[in-house]
Amino acid sequence: MKLLVTGGAGYIGSVVAAQLVEAGHRVTVLDDLSTGHADAVPPGATFVHGSITDPGDLTGYDAVLHFAAKSVVGESVERPGYYWSGNLGGTLALLDAMRGAGVGRIVFSSTAAVYGEPERVPILETDPTRPSNPYGATKLAVDTALTTFAALYGLAAVSLRYFNVAGAYRGYRERHAPETHLIPNVLRVALGERESISIFGDDYPTPDGTCVRDYVHVADLARAHLLALRACEPGVHRIFNLGNGTGFSNKEVVDVCREVTGREIPTVAAPRRPGDPAVLVASAELIRQELGWKPEHATLHDIVADAWQALLP
Ligand code: UFG
Repeated sequence: MKLLVTGGAGYIGSVVAAQLVEAGHRVTVLDDLSTGHADAVPPGATFVHGSITDPGDLTGYDAVLHFAAKSVVGESVERPGYYWSGNLGGTLALLDAMRGAGVGRIVFSSTAAVYGEPERVPILETDPTRPSNPYGATKLAVDTALTTFAALYGLAAVSLRYFNVAGAYRGYRERHAPETHLIPNVLRVALGERESISIFGDDYPTPDGTCVRDYVHVADLARAHLLALRACEPGVHRIFNLGNGTGFSNKEVVDVCREVTGREIPTVAAPRRPGDPAVLVASAELIRQELGWKPEHATLHDIVADAWQALLP
């Protein structure tokens, strides 16, 4: 298939683009490099430096995999307008260009942030969506737009709601600046680049008082996109959670990082980070059942080990 991967110079987009090229698809990456890296575009993909707000003529594409987005929760609280225009405005422009060119298939990067503070875990796709920050709200708005476009224009859409993505694939790894995510920051301490890791909050209603998250390996996550692409049906918008269904506390994550790296990794107790739900764990039953998705690296040890390998010189 001829595929457009928006945001394909970013962490997750680059891994998906690499797997699509390996699977024999013709891939074009569209990325404005606002947070991505040109050298993350996999060999074999064509790179277009540009924005989803003006994607050009999309005639001839079979489908779009849409990753390009602003994705830092804290920044979204400080600059909500920037998130609404980038994430919702940008996606509407992209959908418009797709419609104009007769491109009828999209796989969209949605997020666990659409659920906000869940009433129960594991979270089902049918559970209430009450995002607790603008980032989640913009992603939910896109999900809503996709449902409308599927019903009214016959668009074939799949949204994948990622939980906590980590690990690396063939050297493609997280390179956010600034890095806000737990695992890369903990590994930076292991590398000696930082003195300690701050643990945000130790008085949550969880077994050890720190937040609990569901980690999924980026290679497994990427594979779900190839399955989703095949599962696109005209007039239908399907939504799937993407996690492993197991929660790890922040303290447990640090312990696994110590185990994998063999390094000490000092921690410092810090205040809660605003907007952090206590526990986010996916029910990933639906995608397993309906798309046959099966993670190959479901243990946190494997996920951290791959992230660590990719960081080592
Ligand atoms: N954390 C620390 N110290 C750090 C970094 C993070 O204690 O230096 C904690 C956070 O407070 C949180 C946990 O580690 O409790 C995980 O934080 P991350 O930033 O790694 O990930 P989030 O769970 O905040 O974010 C993920 C996705 C977002 C998505 C969000 C849904 O990366 O895109 O889940 O809440 F919006």
